[in-house]
Amino acid sequence: MTDRTPRGCFITLEGGEGTGKTTQIKHLCNRLAERGIETIQTREPGGTPAGEAVRNLLVSGDTDRWQPMSEALLNYAARVEHVTHTIAPALERGIWVVSDRFADSTMAYQGICQGVGRDRIETLHDTALGEFAPDLTLILDLPVETALERANRRNAGAPRSEDRFERMGQSFHERLRAAFLEIARADPARCQVIDANGTPEQVAARIWASVTRTFGI
Ligand code: TMP
Repeated sequence: MTDRTPRGCFITLEGGEGTGKTTQIKHLCNRLAERGIETIQTREPGGTPAGEAVRNLLVSGDTDRWQPMSEALLNYAARVEHVTHTIAPALERGIWVVSDRFADSTMAYQGICQGVGRDRIETLHDTALGEFAPDLTLILDLPVETALERANRRNAGAPRSEDRFERMGQSFHERLRAAFLEIARADPARCQVIDANGTPEQVAARIWASVTRTFGI
């Protein structure tokens, strides 16, 4: 590494359950690789061994297993590990990082929908990570019925234990969708809303247009 190595770019994908983030991240990383851009794909909660251990505590079990504040703190504990050991070192080496969820998920799920409050999540972020933020956040937006149908279809094909939030009911997911749109409206310099209707290829094309426009690649 030399002093002239340009910092990598940090992209996050956000949205409710069943919006297709995981599929789209694979498409995006493939396209970046075709452009010769070295990329790592990661996720939250997770992204480090400690973060994956925290993930196991969060994504399974009863829907009321945690107090929302406890959940926010656990997610931030995993996030500090993730930024310190995975994200920041990669960016410094010029590697791009694409993460399936990041801080906006805590704001949407715990802050807005589960009642912890925006101010307390902002304070928590500031305390844990200061001004560290993604360069671009793509918010995948889909009507709730379509998203839950997709999530149910996925679970019917391969039942998974990580469905604690998917079991939270339609009205929770309606509020979640509105929360992500509100986050996007509040920070238009960083966030872009992507219409997640259509085939995976159509959505991938929208995402690629947004990424190439944003970074001039
Ligand atoms: P995933 O299944 O989309 O990977 O996400 C795991 C679950 O964790 C998902 O239901 C959203 C939830 N979550 C939070 O509630 N708060 C957070 O800060 C994060 C990162 C995820």
